[in-house]
Amino acid sequence: MKTEFVRIDEARPLSDQMSRAAEIIRRGGLVAFPTETVYGLGGNGLNAEASRAIYAAKGRPSDNPLILHIDEPTKAERYAVTNETYYALARRFMPGPLTVILPKKDIVPDSTTGGLDSVALRCPENPIAHAFLVACDLPIAAPSANLSGKPSPTTAEHVRDDMDGRIEMILDGGPCEIGVESTIVKITDAGVTLLRPGAITAEMLREVVPEVSVDPTVTEKPSEDLRPQAPGMKYRHYAPNAPVFLLCDDGTDDFDARAIRFLSENKRDGAGILCFEEYLPVLAGEKTISLGAKADEKAHAHRLFAALRELDKLPIKAIYATVAKTDGEGLAFYNRMLKASGYHFVRL
Ligand code: TXA
Ligand code: MG
Repeated sequence: MKTEFVRIDEARPLSDQMSRAAEIIRRGGLVAFPTETVYGLGGNGLNAEASRAIYAAKGRPSDNPLILHIDEPTKAERYAVTNETYYALARRFMPGPLTVILPKKDIVPDSTTGGLDSVALRCPENPIAHAFLVACDLPIAAPSANLSGKPSPTTAEHVRDDMDGRIEMILDGGPCEIGVESTIVKITDAGVTLLRPGAITAEMLREVVPEVSVDPTVTEKPSEDLRPQAPGMKYRHYAPNAPVFLLCDDGTDDFDARAIRFLSENKRDGAGILCFEEYLPVLAGEKTISLGAKADEKAHAHRLFAALRELDKLPIKAIYATVAKTDGEGLAFYNRMLKASGYHFVRL
């Protein structure tokens, strides 16, 4: 299959540029598109064949459900059993980087939800994503547009690296603003559970819904008795070719000095380094990528996936990365690094 690469011109009306993409979707084909979080691999979410094609293109296990993308929060009514909590969250956070899990309606095929009786819904804010959804006039099932197990794509080039020849079209809307996937919450009678951290934090959710718990697998290694509620979080994820090891800031005064010493030694031995900007005076060089300033949690999330892909192109045997444990915006970065490393910490 030849993959068409379309650069979006934001100076021209977006709707004019979406008609071919929408045509592909209505025929059951696949189109990758930008969102404010990461690029998505879209297909008609009501068409079981299109969902199966998404799993095949990604090489993804078919028990791992897809998110349905809608152009307007009230369209959730068509696909899910909504409630007050949904509308409270939607009023505050939609469109935006939030995915909500609700009981599904029969119109959504089992192949889209991996056989679950719930469905994940998200209304993205990115104008290109919005124009694409409006033009398709269908709910769009879209996982991140990477090969299963690889870091999520935050540019159209990342999508091309993974998906060239596997899908019909890639819409290039430039780099994604946020850079990590949406916050996922499950709404039940008991309240709201955060299953995957993203740009919308637990604290922000608590301003709208009093009861918000965080699934333990967000910060701890899943085991037999600790199973993630989002099936996708049990797979090895975000993993570059080289093994990743984490240096976690423990809050001690000399952490930075000890980390810099450790990283310098390993850099000399040829490792790739992903570190806070403050370390660059000592560590700058070809195999070092800065995460941004230590306090700039937005920057860490924004740079993470591109950095892992960049390091993947270098001949290195290991990657060492600095992380800090937080409850706020930095939790998304920390959670993805846990998965990229397979929970491997270095003790300094
Ligand atoms: O930001 C995002 O959410 C991006 C963009 C493209 O919108 N999409 C994305 O999709 O990250 P994906 O497929 O890579 O991750 C979806 C996650 C998976 O971990 C999956 O298991 C979980 O959502 N999920 C989907 N439906 C679910 C359901 N009904 N119950 C529990 N977890 C669900
Ligand atoms: Mg994904």
